Amino acid sequence: MATSNSATNDGLNTRACLSMRSRGGDGPRASEITGRIRSFFKKEEPQRELVDVNEIVREIIALLHGEIVRYSISIRTELASDLPNIRRDRVQLQQVFMNLMLNAMDAMNEMHDARELTIKSQRNPQGQLLISISDNGVGLPAQCTDKIFESFFTTKPQGHRYGAVDQPTDC
Ligand SMILES: Nc1ncnc2c1ncn2[C@@H]1O[C@H](COP(=O)(O)OP(=O)(O)OP(=O)(O)O)[C@@H](O)[C@H]1O
Ligand SMILES: [Mg+2]
Repeated sequence: MATSNSATNDGLNTRACLSMRSRGGDGPRASEITGRIRSFFKKEEPQRELVDVNEIVREIIALLHGEIVRYSISIRTELASDLPNIRRDRVQLQQVFMNLMLNAMDAMNEMHDARELTIKSQRNPQGQLLISISDNGVGLPAQCTDKIFESFFTTKPQGHRYGAVDQPTDC
């Protein structure tokens, strides 16, 4: 599987929990939600199981519902219906998608125009699964593109959500 942005993916954060708490009664049942959160934060050996990536995308959108509403973000999804399930670690994929969606939201933070987050899944001609998460935020300066794949690279004043002590970097 390939993603359009594979920045470091272990940025567990507390914002997801906050948005779960603020969720109204129209979403998934409470037991379902707590089960998802529990598995999201569980630190276990990677477990490969057959997963539906579209379902994971929808789960993360549901987890971030509070943030999405709070920051007036329009979500557009184009999820291909004919994707095969893939054998991957569900929690790692949740973490990757969560990080990429939060990155997108952070990038749109200062914007006054409409904030748009687009998530697409598709199968390319080589049979690979492609997931893209894109935003219309500030974008990545050209001089940063090499650094984005370095561990612990961050430009955010608050640094990494999981508490690494590295300083924000100018590219
Ligand atoms: N969608 C995006 N738009 C603009 N810049 C981005 C985007 N996604 C990532 N970046 C840049 O890449 C850097 C690294 O992202 P990464 O997810 O690895 O760490 P982080 O978001 O800074 O911290 P954490 O994920 O631990 O909260 C970000 O600090 C930001 O500068
Ligand atoms: Mg991040």
